[in-house]
Amino acid sequence: MPENTIIANDTSDVISKQQFEYMKLISQIMADRKRGEKPMAYIRTYGCQQNVADSERIKGMLEISGFDFTENPEDADFILFNTCAIREHAEDRVFGNVGALKALKRRHPQIVIALCGCMMEQEHIANKMYKSFPFVSLVFGTHSLHRFPQLLHQTLSEGKRVYERDNDDKKVYEGIPVKRDGTFKGWLSIMYGCNNFCTYCIVPYVRGRERSREKSLVLDEARQMINSGYKEITLLGQNVNSYGKNLPDKPTFSDLLHEIDSIDGDYWLRFMTSHPKDCSRELIDTIASGTHISKHLHLPFQSGSDRILKAMNRHYDRKKYLEIVNYAKEKIDGVSLTSDIIVGFPGETYEDFKETLSLIREVEFTSLFTFIYSPRVGTPAAKMPDPISAEEKSKWFRELLDVQEEIAAKRCASMVSGIEKVLVESETGKNGELSGRTSGNIIVEFKGDKSLIGTFQNVKITQARNWILKGELA
Ligand code: 5AD
Ligand code: SF4
Repeated sequence: MPENTIIANDTSDVISKQQFEYMKLISQIMADRKRGEKPMAYIRTYGCQQNVADSERIKGMLEISGFDFTENPEDADFILFNTCAIREHAEDRVFGNVGALKALKRRHPQIVIALCGCMMEQEHIANKMYKSFPFVSLVFGTHSLHRFPQLLHQTLSEGKRVYERDNDDKKVYEGIPVKRDGTFKGWLSIMYGCNNFCTYCIVPYVRGRERSREKSLVLDEARQMINSGYKEITLLGQNVNSYGKNLPDKPTFSDLLHEIDSIDGDYWLRFMTSHPKDCSRELIDTIASGTHISKHLHLPFQSGSDRILKAMNRHYDRKKYLEIVNYAKEKIDGVSLTSDIIVGFPGETYEDFKETLSLIREVEFTSLFTFIYSPRVGTPAAKMPDPISAEEKSKWFRELLDVQEEIAAKRCASMVSGIEKVLVESETGKNGELSGRTSGNIIVEFKGDKSLIGTFQNVKITQARNWILKGELA
């Protein structure tokens, strides 16, 4: 462990007072360096909800350090890109967008530019970025997030470039301030890291081993969010179903979900992501009997072919997946199922792919997140023979989208003339129209006043347009 690593000897430790001291020092330094009235930060987040939640913690630390936030990098004194490594496309975007900051740094040399997140936990990428972009002052990985104030202070006070990659992935650091982006929808991390090592996936390498937050702390945070008016809380983890395994009294995810659900209030409770190998009947029973738990299960199956599931190291087969799904359909009235799918895993044949198509036809998912396989350096799949051409994979991919579009349209059509409770989220931009989501996470558009944003409303469904529902206030 590097010498300057501080804080926390066990999972319940509160982030060191030292970090709050650094936040104070940063606000003093920035008082002299800012260009406008207040020091401004521009934070750009790539990737999944876990990254969004991490950025919210970084914003929490920056806010205490005296920063306000801007959507325009031109106005910023501090620019941070929180990066994603899940697929090559995500990485390419980061490379392009960081490169584009060079001109801005030339115009405003006092701007401090920083990079963090999953890409920075890959040594070859972090090294490359550090070398290629000399105008980047600070680079740190996901495991150093709790020491961000210290690292930023070091950059500011010493005027040197700081490059920090830490291997410490065993602890949970509590007490980091959070500034949430939303006022009525919020993320709540319940665990970090992943132990599953699916052969295509970089996450275990960049986010470290699985570790859960203590149940009492998660419950406290949920209570706080509900009391301050959050209408939707989404519990986050790479595999929420294995929550609690590293905690002394081994609470299960069902226990946690049930206890949060018992908190009084007007809110929905969601969670992601569930791994089918650990998705228990008990969890499905908890969802079915819950008061606030949304009737939605995001259960990535990745491939419908047993041969490919084995090569992916997923530890379930098609039969087991369908058993869970059928149990969920039986127990949870009107359950909405969603999933992640990878097309073109190394060695996948068209016959295997057809198994994926047949599985989505059988389950009838509400929606799917579909990805073409992207090799990740350091993962076992990246070394497997991959003879199918990119064009062929794209063809399969389009076929998958077509089939799913048909299924989603059919599913949405079956909801017409029913009444759905929706959480109103935003204006659609089309005259006087609002957009919200059902408990099953299906988008509903209807006419209404924008004062309804952030409230629950009943909407009569009048029309289905592919995967979107149209309706009117009931
Ligand atoms: N290539 C394509 N998709 C991937 N995913 C994870 N790793 C890869 C990869 N190397 C997808 C999986 C996962 C989702 C978050 O991203 O479907 O569930
Ligand atoms: Fe990646 Fe598999 Fe872990 Fe999900 S469960 S984060 S796909 S290794």
